[in-house]
Parts: sequence; structure tokens; C-alpha cells
Amino acid sequence: MLTNTATRYGSLARFFHWSIALLILTAIALGLIGDNTPRNADTVARLQTIYSAHKTIGITVLLLAVLRIGWAVTQPRPVPLHPERRAETLAAEVVHWALYGAILIMPLSGWVMHAAESGFAPIWWPFGQGLPFVPKSEAVAHTAGAVHGLSAWVIILSIAAHIAGALKHQIIDKDATLARMSHGRDAGDAAATHGRAAPLLAVGLWIIVLGVALFAAPSTPAPEAQGEKAELTGEAASVVPADGPTWEVQNGDLTFSVVQIGTPVEGHFDTWSAAITYDDTTGIGAVTVNIDTTTLTLGSVTDNAKSEEFFNVAAYSTATFTADITRTGEAHHAAGNLTLAGAIVPVTLPFELLVEGDVATMTGSVELDRRDFGMGAGYTDESTVGFGVTVTVNLTATRTD
Ligand code: HEM
Ligand code: HEM
Repeated sequence: MLTNTATRYGSLARFFHWSIALLILTAIALGLIGDNTPRNADTVARLQTIYSAHKTIGITVLLLAVLRIGWAVTQPRPVPLHPERRAETLAAEVVHWALYGAILIMPLSGWVMHAAESGFAPIWWPFGQGLPFVPKSEAVAHTAGAVHGLSAWVIILSIAAHIAGALKHQIIDKDATLARMSHGRDAGDAAATHGRAAPLLAVGLWIIVLGVALFAAPSTPAPEAQGEKAELTGEAASVVPADGPTWEVQNGDLTFSVVQIGTPVEGHFDTWSAAITYDDTTGIGAVTVNIDTTTLTLGSVTDNAKSEEFFNVAAYSTATFTADITRTGEAHHAAGNLTLAGAIVPVTLPFELLVEGDVATMTGSVELDRRDFGMGAGYTDESTVGFGVTVTVNLTATRTD
């Protein structure tokens, strides 16, 4: 029979229980394997498969969990088999309710983390990767990750206690607890009742866990909070070789995009400074940009990007672009050298410039080849990391003299 009675689990409740149990145990195993796999050129493709499988299974759990809860509220909950053992019954029921919480909180926190960061290991489905109300934000991803990581331990411990309890009933008590869930056996006294405390205790447990994850998570300050503007403007007008009016950067963005396993992934540098001189009557100027490469982020592969294989930020924490600015007709170019990861490469950045009074707005982008900088030597083809890297700069500057 599909439905429950006071003494029996119906086939639908059993289907939900066992399918979610199987999927959740697989998701946990994949999450732990992923967590313990080193991140380097040899493992990146394997990691992508592990995390894509993990996420897809996790989303499946979420869908089944919503259906399961929708079904459970319409059904009687089979009574405890030994209501007289009050502490044991309470413990078992607290764990059941905690597990109900976990089948929602685990996939939701994972999904928010995934939606807030860019690229790497997509969910295998055609419905997009973002979530409508979740911004692309490192801080959001970090907080959701803290919830996910701590809740992982709650679910692992709850399942361990739950399985230990089921085995105790089977082996020591030799009662029908497991048979009720595995075969739909009818057992128990229909007049027995459930305690009221269990759901409240489980909710209390989750409030504590979420509170700890949200407040104790070491927070990564959002870029706005890092004094980015001070950094951006800190060196303005100090190291400029050419004569002419100087410009102070008010705000700007330095981003780059690379195709990773077929998907464009966007990265950015939080801290950089630009010293600019430019005479808009002659169209001649110069620029020096210093970039703190330790502040780069690239979705979930930030650590990999910072490693020796790519930006090697431990050895080269600063990248510098020194260039002369020229104007031909409407078009502007900054032509010079980019010193990055120990290589010096000539680069010409075409850009658009709009000067209105004392305010200049520029946007420009240039395609670089990572191999010119000796990056990703272990990735000899483009199947995992593309060769081309598009660097984009947007900034607004004001004339200072
Ligand atoms: C693979 C090992 C597992 C075994 C042997 C097992 C066994 C059982 C048994 C025997 C019951 C019935 C308890 C009773 O009637 O009082 C039960 C209920 C329950 N189990 Fe499991 N379980 C397992 C895994 C899981 C997992 C991974 C979850 C995580 C979601 C879970 C969630 C639940 C919940 C929420 C109930 C309460 C009944 C319901 O509302 O469906 N179980 N389990
Ligand atoms: C049934 C649901 C899920 C369970 C039980 C689960 C469990 C886990 C576990 C045990 C880990 C390793 C511990 C850690 O790295 O902190 C992990 C990591 C991770 N999970 Fe899940 N997960 C679930 C669903 C999801 C979903 C739906 C997504 C995304 C759509 C997701 C994304 C991730 C990511 C990105 C990591 C790596 C975190 C990091 O290394 O920073 N998970 N998960």
C-alpha cells in the first residue's frame, strides 16, 4: 500500500526514505573525496566530474526532499515501537527530525554556494547554474560554504547515530523497527503517541548549528570593504613618467575571463593601482598599473590559479603594466610591457575613452595568451584551460591638475 498507517510505513514513504538515503550517502562520499583530492593539473578534470556529480545528486535530493515532506505531512507517522523507553525514543526522533532538516539545508546551502561563485563543475542539468536571488559574491559563497561544511558534520553524525540505532534494534532488540522500514512490516501499538519535544529539540539544534556557521565563519571582507578605493588611488600621480595632466582613478574593475572545460569563467583582481597622465588636447599620455596578484579570485579554482602552475603569487605578488598612451582618430592604445609571473611581454591594450570636463571613463580589453607567461605548462591543450585570456579594464578617473 502507498499510504502509511499508525503502525506501518507505506511504499511511498519507504521509497523516499531509501532513495534519499542512497543519494545522500553518495553525495557525502563524493563531497569528502573531493575535499581530500589535491587540486592540480592532473586532478582538475577528475575534480570537476566529482563535484558535478556531487551537485547533481544533491539537487536531486532537494527535489525528492520537497516531495517527501509534502507527502509526509499528509500521512500518519508510524508510532514508536518502545514508547516506554522514553530517552531512547526521544533520541531516535530528534535524529529523525534533524535528518529532515539536513535534507533541505545541505542541498540548499550547497546550491547557494555554487550560485554565488563562478564556473567550475556545473550541475548537470539544462536549467542554468545561478539562483535568482543569489548574487555572484565571494562573501555569500563563503558563508554558504561555512553552513555547508558544518552541516556536513551534523548530517554525518546524525546518520551514524541513526544507522547505529537501526542496527541495535535489529541485532540486540531483535524487533521489527528495520523490517517496518525495509519491508513495510506492520508492527507497534497504534495507541502509542509521539513526544512533542523531539521536533523542537531538532529545530534548536539547527538554529545553533546555523548560528555558529554564520557568526563564527571567518569572513572574507567584500571588496568594497577592503579600502579598494584607497588602494586604487594610493599611488596615483606618483610614478608617472610622462608630462601632462594627471588623473586619479576613482573606481574601476580589473577582470579577466578564461574558458575552463568549455565554460567561460570570470576572475578579478581586488587590489591594483593606476598612475595615469594624459593630455586630451594631444591624445598623448602614459600609464603604470600595479596589480597585487595575491588578491585575484577565479571562482572555485582561486587557489589553483594562484599556485606555482599559474600566477605563482608566492614568487610574483605584483604584476606591472607600463605603457604609452596614443590616440589615432577616436581610437586609443596603451602600448607597453606587461610583467607578470616572471615574464615580460609586450602588450597593446586598445581602449575607449570618454572625457567630460574633468572626468574620464575608459573601457578596454585585450586578449592574452597564457603560454606567453609560462602559465599552465601542464595543460598542453585547451580541453581544461583555454590558452586565450581576455583581460578587461573599466575605470573612471578625475583630473587632478
Ligand atoms: C543506510 C542506512 C539507513 C538505515 C539502516 C535506516 C533505517 C531506518 C529505519 C529502520 C527507520 C524507521 C525508524 C522507526 O520506525 O522508528 C528509519 C527512519 C527514518 N530514516 Fe533512516 N535509515 C538509513 C539511512 C537514512 C538516511 C541517510 C537518512 C537521511 C535523510 C534517513 C532518514 C530517516 C528519517 C527522516 C526517518 C523517519 C521516518 C520518515 O519520516 O521517513 N535514514 N530509518
Ligand atoms: C544531499 C545534499 C548534500 C550533501 C549531503 C553534501 C555534502 C557535502 C560534503 C560532506 C562535502 C565535503 C565537506 C566540505 O568540503 O566542507 C561537500 C562539499 C561541497 N559541496 Fe556538498 N553536499 C550536498 C549538496 C550539494 C549541492 C546541491 C551543491 C551545489 C549545487 C554542493 C556543493 C558543494 C561544494 C562546491 C563543495 C566543496 C566545498 C569546498 O571545498 O569549499 N553540495 N558537500
